[in-house]
Amino acid sequence: MTTVAAAIHAALLESDPRAKVMRTRALVREWRAGRLDFVFDLTMPDEPGRPAEPVLLPPSQMPKRGRGHSERGRIALWHALAHIEFVAIDLALDMVGRFGDAMGRQFVSDFLGVAADEAMHFELLARKLRSLGSHYGALPAHSGLWDAAHETRNDVAARLAVVPMVLEARGLDVTPATRDRVRAAGDENGARILQRILDDEIRHVRFGATHFTAVCKDRGESAEILWKTLVERHFRGSVKPPFNDSARSAAGLSRSFYAGVA
Ligand SMILES: [Fe+2]
Ligand SMILES: [Fe+2]
Repeated sequence: MTTVAAAIHAALLESDPRAKVMRTRALVREWRAGRLDFVFDLTMPDEPGRPAEPVLLPPSQMPKRGRGHSERGRIALWHALAHIEFVAIDLALDMVGRFGDAMGRQFVSDFLGVAADEAMHFELLARKLRSLGSHYGALPAHSGLWDAAHETRNDVAARLAVVPMVLEARGLDVTPATRDRVRAAGDENGARILQRILDDEIRHVRFGATHFTAVCKDRGESAEILWKTLVERHFRGSVKPPFNDSARSAAGLSRSFYAGVA
């Protein structure tokens, strides 16, 4: 039997987007069928495999996206979202490969479910790009999306505090407005994709909050205080309003958590 760590390690190192999606889906199926050993016998890579394209640029060098309604602006939007979902596959896989041994089977099941969702989100967006005559890799993309993973590689509490509870929670805040803009421009299919992503991301944030709270309990720490400390230490951006309070509370993030840092 293959170990869960070996399957995740191989998917992380895969650089071809389509192959990474297939490997991720296959390993999640195998895990759910009980065909992967709960053994963590490999160290996860510092950097996951990346395709030659998109070219990765620091945010300051990214070309301006332009006005939303032009064909170019639409492609740039879907491309940026596809890149976020592509990196999200690796973030979920690394969460499991790095911390699954200490955190246990439920954690592994939860975040492998997240990895499968991210693979599906990436596929939906890659297909959307193809329907517009473009493809993932056609434009440059943001180079900094792996930084949060690297920064929090030594502590599961820091990883949970920053990745699901800040970055993915930020997605809950901004996605409804993007969805409404896309719908107002007449793209109902695009709006449905964004709604699907939003619904799934609420679950991802909830997994983050649930496991973070459990870690804090084990360590005898206050979740709200430790979260603020870890975000201040490990997250360079700011946690800022407007917040989507209803989506956040559906995900188990109460206002008292993030109000203080805003
Ligand atoms: Fe996603
Ligand atoms: Fe997610």
